[in-house]
Amino acid sequence: MAGHELIVWNDELLTGVAEIDEQHRILVNSINEANTRLSNTQVNAEILGKITQDLLSYALYHFETEEELMQKYHYAATQGEDLALHQKQHREFSATVVAVREGIKAEKLISREDLLTFLNGWLINHILNTDKKLGIFIQAKRAQ
Ligand SMILES: [Fe+2]
Repeated sequence: MAGHELIVWNDELLTGVAEIDEQHRILVNSINEANTRLSNTQVNAEILGKITQDLLSYALYHFETEEELMQKYHYAATQGEDLALHQKQHREFSATVVAVREGIKAEKLISREDLLTFLNGWLINHILNTDKKLGIFIQAKRAQ
């Protein structure tokens, strides 16, 4: 699959933590909406600026939700390495989007394909490999 097609939601993406899953659905929808919008219009700095700003602010809010859950359930106590890697991935995502936004300001517009390949690839990989691990941990804590 080319990395810039619409993401099809499937249950493989569920972490089992309701608030995380709800936010992931919103993120998938926002990325898909951005995809459709960028397919139907001439890509320009204003549109890219708006899309990346909205995505970044929702992503930051979402990362905060996950990181608060890590704290609440003492993820660091037994899964310190996972926590460090998880936070690192959140920071790297934010830094990449900030760099894309700097580029837009400098009139170096990222292409629709490159932007969507990054967003889709990052989110799917992160959910499947990193958030699901956190999900298993939180589910176990909540079952105690
Ligand atoms: Fe995460």
